[in-house]
Amino acid sequence: MNYTTGTGELQEWLVAEEGFRTSWLGKGETVFSLGNGYMGLRSVTEEHYANEQRNLFVAGTFNKFAQNEVTELPNAADVLWMEFILDGTRFDLTQGTILKYNRTLNLKHAELVREVTWQSPDGKVYDLVFRRFVSMADLHVIVQRVSITPRQESTLAMTSGINGQMTNSGVQHFLEGDKRLYDGRLMQQLQTTTESGIDFAFHSIHRFSLKGSFEPKSIIKMDRRQIFFDYSDIRIPAGETLTIEKYSTVFTSRDNDVMSETREELANLALNATRDIEARGYESLFNDHVKAWDDLVWSHAPITIESESMFDQLAVRFAQYHLAVMTPKHDNRMNVAAKGLSGEGYKGHTFWDTEIFILPYYTYTNPKIARSLLEYRYLSLPGAHQKAKENGYEGAMFPWESAWLDDGEVTPVWGAADIVTGEATKIWSGFIEQHITSDIAFAAWQYYHVTGDQDFMDRFGYELLIDTAKFWASRLEWNDENGQYEINQVVGPDEYKEHVDNNAFTNYTAHWNIQTAIQYVELLRREKPELYERLDEKLDLGAAEERFRHVLELIYLPQVREDGVLPQDDTYLQKEIIDLTKYKNQQNVGSMFYDYNLEQVNEIQVSKQADVMILMYLLEDLFTADVKRANWEYYEPKTLHDSSLSLSTHSVLASDLGDQELAYDLFRRASEIDLGPNMKTSDAGIHAASLGGIWQAVVNGFGGVRMTGGKLRISPMLPKAWNSLRFSINWKNETLDVHASRNQVIITRRTPTLEPLIIEVYGELREIKETFTSEVLSV
Ligand code: BGC
Repeated sequence: MNYTTGTGELQEWLVAEEGFRTSWLGKGETVFSLGNGYMGLRSVTEEHYANEQRNLFVAGTFNKFAQNEVTELPNAADVLWMEFILDGTRFDLTQGTILKYNRTLNLKHAELVREVTWQSPDGKVYDLVFRRFVSMADLHVIVQRVSITPRQESTLAMTSGINGQMTNSGVQHFLEGDKRLYDGRLMQQLQTTTESGIDFAFHSIHRFSLKGSFEPKSIIKMDRRQIFFDYSDIRIPAGETLTIEKYSTVFTSRDNDVMSETREELANLALNATRDIEARGYESLFNDHVKAWDDLVWSHAPITIESESMFDQLAVRFAQYHLAVMTPKHDNRMNVAAKGLSGEGYKGHTFWDTEIFILPYYTYTNPKIARSLLEYRYLSLPGAHQKAKENGYEGAMFPWESAWLDDGEVTPVWGAADIVTGEATKIWSGFIEQHITSDIAFAAWQYYHVTGDQDFMDRFGYELLIDTAKFWASRLEWNDENGQYEINQVVGPDEYKEHVDNNAFTNYTAHWNIQTAIQYVELLRREKPELYERLDEKLDLGAAEERFRHVLELIYLPQVREDGVLPQDDTYLQKEIIDLTKYKNQQNVGSMFYDYNLEQVNEIQVSKQADVMILMYLLEDLFTADVKRANWEYYEPKTLHDSSLSLSTHSVLASDLGDQELAYDLFRRASEIDLGPNMKTSDAGIHAASLGGIWQAVVNGFGGVRMTGGKLRISPMLPKAWNSLRFSINWKNETLDVHASRNQVIITRRTPTLEPLIIEVYGELREIKETFTSEVLSV
């Protein structure tokens, strides 16, 4: 990968690949993936190669193939597919000679361009340029443009169409469906998912030009789940350029912007839309697309970093790019998947990754989207109630992995091979990784305090906070001997410790959840009697409050030891300590499992990811700087960062502890999870949470932004490599522009009002009317 190809206006906007190897395909397919939150398209090449993974996902269109499998996001038809026969030889980069090759994702324009000069095994030379984008302006549209310039007079034959033979690792989620050709040019394929019954309508149409448009000789063909054209005898004079444009659309019966009662109506509407799209042409569609990207991301929430290394700016833009590609901002019935829409990994499911890692980006920069993602959780309360009931609890017990609103738990039960027993390892997260419930409550609370969105609280927020607290209050176990309530047999954030008692993160956040719910029940009774009454009917607030008050003081919260260390759970600190150097220096994550099985790892003081440390980030007021440092020193050396969620949290904490250089190193390492030299780590899809975490490392870490107890703090502190950092955040419906340099910070209110704004800056409360300038101080 090369990050330095952008110059002039495009500096720090281009991610490029300069070599072609079939063993590297997965990296480019993921890193270059395109999308608009409605759909995500893995960036495979037009022509096929072994090892490729062709994926098109439409957010929220889940299907369950069989009763004993979990719901997953189905891999939809491949519309990118094009095969070229140049002078009788198949265009194939593994054959002949590549004279020039580069593939570049322009983040600003969200356009992927591949430029190749290829010499066929027959010695003929061709210049080819492939461009494509998935429109941000028209959510259903994929456009490709291929230009072929032969150095000698040539003849092209081409196959191109819609291939519905796609599977998710062998699982076919679609019925055969119908295929049809319209207007002699427009291909249609209609398919329906096998269990959820979602109709998909795919359309593609081509446009050819060579000194003016023309229609080449063609035969339409159909096969099982395929419709395609065979074009032939396209003569291209030496040095002239043939351009082929392929306009494709994807619609489904789940789309909330499409009013269709039947599959026929959907098909008709999609057919007409495709005709319109083709009539508008590449340039016009592209211009609208670029503008939509600019409005949504680049002008809306720009971050500017002046760094010794241009990679830093690019890394943040890359994160913002993919966050926009993966987030279904158009529909509150769906959420962000752990691999976005860029791969089959984690089956399109949503985890705590959204609330703790991704949501802060939206809460602080685009509250409308944050609200939509939180509404998804509210709408999935029926599934959370079902899960609580099945487990003998009350309230809302959110699923660890979530898909359809009413699915409840969708975590698969069996995972990787156990090297000792030879059996599949059981995945316990779906049963006992329960902190997701307080994570959601926390994110709703954070959203409210940052945005001041009272309407959200009235309609969804109070209920979420109280219903989740009801779960915890029923989940607690009374320990008679110790006279306390405990939470036993859980998995905390550190998934290398299973069936532990009193995981600090779980207990503290559950306690926080109940404590916050008490405050809100009181507030509702006092200030919002009507809402109190409405929620009382649903949640029996009187009884809930009584229980909350009874348990609150009796919940066991692991206490900081004399040396400052907070026990991660009841037994962690008594476990064996081994030399982890080999695994700390690993090339690929999870290398410890080549030597140990999970049961053995469970008995060693080793952590997969931030656990105690993330508690000290989220509920930071509860812990002093000394305690944070002591825990860093104890746990970080035992943390393998085997989850991509770990490095960014550590970076923010290193910033908080005043070690900007360490924070910078961790920020770089987090950025390299997808952009780094390891060509294999992104095969299953992009690391969505890590990208949200990169934004946090910059804004919450170096930018020093934090909301604690409802109050805003901005205390930037830059690493040596940075000269300045500019970003904007939303705070209670207004925009604040922050410009931090090495020795000064300027905070400007974009639309000042008479009401002064109170912000804590380097430990002092400041009243800001329009703008405020401070020296950079360490606190
Ligand atoms: C991590 C979880 C995370 C999940 C999805 C796992 O490897 O341990 O914390 O939620 O991946 O990203």
